[in-house]
Amino acid sequence: MSAFRPSSMVLPPAASFVAEPVSKNIVRAEGRVSGADRAANFGHEPRTVWFTGLSGSGKSTLAFALEEALIAKGVACYVLDGDNVRFGLNQDLGFSPEDRTENIRRIGEVCRLFQDAGLVVLTAFISPYQADRAQVRQLHPDGAFVEVFVDTPIEICEQRDVKGLYAKARAGEIPEFSGISAPYEAPENPELTIDTGQPLADCVNDLIVGLGL
Ligand code: ADX
Repeated sequence: MSAFRPSSMVLPPAASFVAEPVSKNIVRAEGRVSGADRAANFGHEPRTVWFTGLSGSGKSTLAFALEEALIAKGVACYVLDGDNVRFGLNQDLGFSPEDRTENIRRIGEVCRLFQDAGLVVLTAFISPYQADRAQVRQLHPDGAFVEVFVDTPIEICEQRDVKGLYAKARAGEIPEFSGISAPYEAPENPELTIDTGQPLADCVNDLIVGLGL
């Protein structure tokens, strides 16, 4: 982990995100609680653990299992899950490339808020575009964004088809389906890669060791 930095709220936005807010005449307000104060309070530094992979690859399963294990260890953490967030914050977004980019941009900003609050956030989004994930990384201090590639081949995801979506996508009932009729760009240099062919408990152990938590 890099040295802890003060409030990320004062960091400038990533250049490739909208550079200027639409609102004019706004001024940043700064609190008096530092990142170090928050880390001392929680007993750990914040970070974003970003799971990426195809639908059905096991992102949510891994994130929720890791959350359970971390909470048991006293780590203040929370899962942001793709399907769940699309019921609320991102209910206005679909699966076009533009909407997926906006989905990930908003989640990146939410992660930045979590980061600022001193928490560990675990995210489970397909996040199919390298560039979108790179932009989220840029919103974080060095070392605070941990990309985890859930490396489950599409054949396995399709065999599992937990939600029955692959069958529908193959039947042409779901357009722009990741891995079938929409792209998925695998990470080139993820901090961690998880093989979900092994038991879940082993995956969680690998994650805890890899994250140093
Ligand atoms: S992302 O591509 O924008 O990152 P996100 O993770 O939020 O996707 O949502 C993916 C989930 O939405 C999938 O796990 C699946 O349950 C559901 N889904 C519905 N339609 C699609 C689609 N066309 N492509 C991929 N996932 C879809």
